[in-house]
Amino acid sequence: MEIVIVPDAAAGGELIASAIADLLTRKPDAMLGVATGSTPLPIYRALEAKVKAGSLDVSRARVCQLDEYVGLPVGHPESYREVLLREVLQPLGIPGERFIGPDGAAEDIAGAATAYDQELAAAGGVDLQLLGIGTDGHIGFNEPCSSLASRTRIKTLTEQTRVDNARFFDSLDEVPHHVLTQGIGTILEARHLVLLATGEAKAEAVAQTVEGPLSALVPASALQLHPHATVVVDEAAAARLKLADYFRATYAAKPSWQSI
Ligand code: PGA
Repeated sequence: MEIVIVPDAAAGGELIASAIADLLTRKPDAMLGVATGSTPLPIYRALEAKVKAGSLDVSRARVCQLDEYVGLPVGHPESYREVLLREVLQPLGIPGERFIGPDGAAEDIAGAATAYDQELAAAGGVDLQLLGIGTDGHIGFNEPCSSLASRTRIKTLTEQTRVDNARFFDSLDEVPHHVLTQGIGTILEARHLVLLATGEAKAEAVAQTVEGPLSALVPASALQLHPHATVVVDEAAAARLKLADYFRATYAAKPSWQSI
């Protein structure tokens, strides 16, 4: 796993947006896996700036969702489809027809989960998957003790995650208890995983992910199994990394032509 320590969230957003731009230059119809939450917003703003400046062409880019709440009505402003349309697709000018995700409003939730894995496979898989990390070490909504081989399925949120996400709703009671999430096995099939973590609240989860044992208790530690995983952290989120100096030196010595 490659660890890149950046000064702040904006620098992380710039770095990752540049990697996405490089990918779209090589493969204009790349499938980008996008994530919700506060952390990836600097990536989306940096991408938007590139599109507005004319240095990034997203006219064939495809986008897919990592996870979705179960039970919110279609079009609910906090459903992840709506959030991503608002934060990513519309600012970049990518039409909804090139955006796929799991149907959290389906009658048959188990069927919707299987259908989404099939849809991802039929689309040729994910080229670059963006990930955040929960304070409990989750990726997507794979909460602690998720199977490291899991596929897209329904999960029950921990109370911690519901509390963390309550800021997007009027009250904690409105935060759904259930979600559909790409499984850890599904996520590991993406060709490049890029996790961004910022702020001291993520420092412990980052240290366990990068330097701890591979463990279902810390779902993000599954990135250790991936041949091309990049973890971008700001100084605050890097605070508990024992090998921080080594990671800094390794990245500083990286050939300039090599992108993350
Ligand atoms: P956050 O969410 O970026 O809003 O902290 C991350 C996550 O829960 O995966």
